[in-house]
Amino acid sequence: MNKLLMIAVAAMVLTGAPAFAGDAAAGKTKSKTCAACHGPDGNSVSPDFPRIAGQHYDYLVKVLKRYKSGERKNAIMSAQAANLSRRDIEDLAAYYSQQQGLVTKY
Ligand code: HEC
Repeated sequence: MNKLLMIAVAAMVLTGAPAFAGDAAAGKTKSKTCAACHGPDGNSVSPDFPRIAGQHYDYLVKVLKRYKSGERKNAIMSAQAANLSRRDIEDLAAYYSQQQGLVTKY
């Protein structure tokens, strides 16, 4: 490994710069089941379902883990999260956090 690359990696580790664990491309494939409610890119058009496009990666990981563990309870999402592995959660979070979110000003 060249020196510069090693320094860059060390700096990222030390500063805690977002070293995304998730793979957005894999997340896109895994998001097919989520799309029915949250829309293909996370921009749900129904007021019944939250928009998750452009949401923070860390928040998405946290909340999906909470649905899975039962710390956050919702019949629909608990069932959705129950079978997600840690890897699935990180991939999905990477995908949705990288989508353009819609912001509506009222
Ligand atoms: C059948 C509809 C449905 C499907 C399918 C679904 N969701 Fe949800 N999702 C919901 C609803 C309803 C909520 C709001 C639940 C609540 O009030 O906690 C929600 C909430 C969420 C939240 C929390 C949003 C926030 O602002 O806190 C995330 C993240 C999320 N879903 C991700 C996913 C992912 C990833 C998948 C696919 C694995 C998925 N959902 C599949 C209906 C769905």
